[in-house]
Amino acid sequence: MSLEQNKAFLRRVPLLSSLNDQQIEALAAGSTRRNFPKGRTIVSEGEPSQSLYILLSGRAKVQRSDSEGKEVILAVLGSGDFFGEMSLIDDAPRSASVITLESCDFMSIAKDSFKSMLMQSNEMCLAVMKGMVARLREADQKIETLALLDVYGRVARVLLDFSEHVDGERVVKHKLPRQEIAKMIGASREMVSRVMKGLEIDGFIVPMPEGRLLLREKISSYIS
Ligand code: CMP
Repeated sequence: MSLEQNKAFLRRVPLLSSLNDQQIEALAAGSTRRNFPKGRTIVSEGEPSQSLYILLSGRAKVQRSDSEGKEVILAVLGSGDFFGEMSLIDDAPRSASVITLESCDFMSIAKDSFKSMLMQSNEMCLAVMKGMVARLREADQKIETLALLDVYGRVARVLLDFSEHVDGERVVKHKLPRQEIAKMIGASREMVSRVMKGLEIDGFIVPMPEGRLLLREKISSYIS
């Protein structure tokens, strides 16, 4: 991948939109574009950090696990999201693992390039802070969900969070395996299956082709 191609990719990243040509050029010199297949661990919890990653296409999950191997999914990242900034900023080990859910394209930016860019650009510092604040807001909502909602409410919350508006309807477009939902809400896969069946029988959700799911408006009653 040439320097010119790296620059072209970096220019399209919202996080870097405040950087001038010279800064993009410096960053591109310390960047690599990479593709990983589904199921690949990009960063591992507890390991030292070398790079910041920007997701150009595809989806990846942010996950932590305990000493017995039990896993919790903290977030699912999509195109334009960045990760790996936490340990670059505080020099602590990686706070979580990031694993691809499908084939993904990334830009990886070397630690030194990222840090020197933060020193040079107040706008970029603000953009990183904005991304981290958005994550804190999402984490706050997740704590509220886990503390206050029953398992039906938790499943409803995940389905609503992953849904998009399509022709005036709310649709979960990407297949969401029950095991993945279970890891997001601290429940067993069997429990999630029972809840999903119940939601379907009662007409809150309607399965569609290719694993898509139509959500009826009344599903919001579980989270209010
Ligand atoms: P770092 O700790 O370097 O490596 C793991 C990365 O996962 C972390 O940086 C963040 O970029 C990302 N991450 C950690 N916690 C969350 C979260 N709650 N939501 C979204 N991303 C997260």
